[in-house]
Amino acid sequence: MTFLHTTTTLFLLTTTTTPASASNIQRWSQVLVSPSLLTAKSTVQSTADPLPPEAMASRDKKIKYCSITCHRLSWCRVWCTDDPTAGCTFYDLIVMPAYQDPTPLTATECFTTRRFDFVTHATITSGQQNVWVPLGIKENIVDGIHSFGGDDNFVSTIDADAQWLVIDFGNTKKFTQVLMIAEASPNAAMSLQQVEIRIGNTTTTAAPPEGLQEYKLFGKFPGPATSNQEIMITSHKPVSARFVSFRKLDYQFIFAVGHIEVY
Ligand SMILES: *[C@@H]1O[C@H](CO)[C@@H](O)[C@H](O)[C@H]1NC(C)=O
Repeated sequence: MTFLHTTTTLFLLTTTTTPASASNIQRWSQVLVSPSLLTAKSTVQSTADPLPPEAMASRDKKIKYCSITCHRLSWCRVWCTDDPTAGCTFYDLIVMPAYQDPTPLTATECFTTRRFDFVTHATITSGQQNVWVPLGIKENIVDGIHSFGGDDNFVSTIDADAQWLVIDFGNTKKFTQVLMIAEASPNAAMSLQQVEIRIGNTTTTAAPPEGLQEYKLFGKFPGPATSNQEIMITSHKPVSARFVSFRKLDYQFIFAVGHIEVY
């Protein structure tokens, strides 16, 4: 965490244009992302270039201008710039503040609204992955980046004993919220429903998925989910745990989830 905090700048911006939000403070974290990933993964992008002269007056003014503009665009989740003399580009991509780009030296400076969470870089285990969806690997859940165009999910086989995931934070973390994002498909109605989220501190005695019943129930999503639905489950008080498990209890279809955050 020390490393992350020394390489990441948190920008606190007070905006007066957040009617839908309970808070008028929006936190933006700086993160580096390869230009090739930005163009390959985003389904919507829009460039503001040139910016109004007042927004170009300083780095801080530009960050503020582009952050507020991104916030006003309903689909924008990250904005980027690699040229201090030009404007910025907005993307509909989730990039977690702790995301580590494979090619940081050529990466673009971006700013994300996401909060630091415990899932990015955590260890993940799962039931059998679906060979018919070769890109649907469990690592997509912990890599800190998520596109809304599909191909970025964990996808299990249809077998009952394959429909689970366990995220291991390495040590006990305190949290109140678990976010799941459904796959970008109408199939989300079948691939994300009847999901039980449980928490524990040790590996289970019995093998998953049955062994996951040893964990304490955190919450349940009855579903059915809609395409790209964001499901936030909030505990009434903070809990502490090292492991968070996700098990789908309806086995008529595969289990697919696009993205998970815990904080
Ligand atoms: C995990 O351990 C912490 C610290 O001992 C404890 O407070 C917490 O309740 C435990 N969590 C669970 C799910 O048992």
